[in-house]
Amino acid sequence: MAREKLIEMARENLGYVKAGTTQLRPDVLRVPAHHYFEADRFELEVERIFMRMPLMLAFSCELREPGSYKSMVAAGVPLFIVRGRDGAARAFLNSCAHRGAQVVPEGNGKARRFTCPYHAWSYDEKGALVGILDEDEFGEIDRGCHGLTPLPLSERAGFIWVGLRADCPVDFDVFLAGYDEALAHFGFEGWHLVSRREVAGPNWKIAYDGYLDLYHLPILHKDTFGPDFPNKAIYTPWGPHQRVSGPNPLLLDLEKKSEEEWPTEHLIGGVWTVFPHVSIATFNAGGAGVLVSQLFPGKEAGSSITVQNYLMAEEPDEAGREEAEKRVDLLEYVVREEDYATGLRQQQALRAGGRKEVLFGRNEGGGQRFHRWLDRLLATDDEDVNDALGAGDPLAD
Ligand code: FES
Ligand SMILES: [Fe+2]
Repeated sequence: MAREKLIEMARENLGYVKAGTTQLRPDVLRVPAHHYFEADRFELEVERIFMRMPLMLAFSCELREPGSYKSMVAAGVPLFIVRGRDGAARAFLNSCAHRGAQVVPEGNGKARRFTCPYHAWSYDEKGALVGILDEDEFGEIDRGCHGLTPLPLSERAGFIWVGLRADCPVDFDVFLAGYDEALAHFGFEGWHLVSRREVAGPNWKIAYDGYLDLYHLPILHKDTFGPDFPNKAIYTPWGPHQRVSGPNPLLLDLEKKSEEEWPTEHLIGGVWTVFPHVSIATFNAGGAGVLVSQLFPGKEAGSSITVQNYLMAEEPDEAGREEAEKRVDLLEYVVREEDYATGLRQQQALRAGGRKEVLFGRNEGGGQRFHRWLDRLLATDDEDVNDALGAGDPLAD
């Protein structure tokens, strides 16, 4: 994406700063309360959103070396991603061609071959079956047809997106809508993964609503982030993805300079959400670090798991690492004890019934857009999903 779009966003932000106003939708949006707890709805979301949309599952920087891999379970699907000796990253269902066992243990590592722990069949980095124990006795099978099942993958802007279905119907270009070009301004491929945590939370949408929500910041987080946070939000969409930023008075200083001199790091602040499950939070203070939260639905509607990843532009030394861990301790505390603790109680109250709807205000355009995208995609069959993704902002409907 051209830098012009970043400049354009900064100009829009400045407009609100000077006017002392913020972005407002024409109306309040009402979302049925049962969307947050009904089992049928949850199953449809897993099937039509998580199983169908490309998910941002790994960072280029955690799979730098040939043979480095990451094995995980995403939305119930065991898979692994591996960097080949040719430099390409590939993803596979983590299921052996013999009787389906999981071949690669969960976690990050490095290997030349992947050997199944059940009967030692082995696979190479391209998923080819390269070893069958006691092959003469096993009987004849065509090795070429018994490799690991590849999953669609695209590596862009330092992130690795994977589709959880081998027959993923979504065109990654249509889905990303140029957002990867915007994210490329961070240069994440050269960054470092410094810390990783896992936090259990409420229904994934209750959790995700919070990442799009600046309205709550000075209230819910008054004892941690402090009450001075702006609670106003400006949203910029690229397809279903949205960047969120508060009106930023620091941008006023930029106006003294020509646009070419506006430093990129001043133009990329705020929270960059990646539909349907990632938030990239930038911080002004404390060195160049971002918190990338990857949210996954749990086993049922009322649970989710968030993986918090702290990435830094420069590899920290010992002292820098300690400082970063302290920062992540705070971020984990805020999410666990403030956001998700509130979310779990909210969920309990919603499930108890009596409330038909929840509200997203005119000032909460991000949440409005997120729920409208969900409604649109949940109503769309596979054959029409790319048209639905390319059909423009649902808030304009
Ligand atoms: S299930 Fe993998 S070798 Fe048998
Ligand atoms: Fe929050």
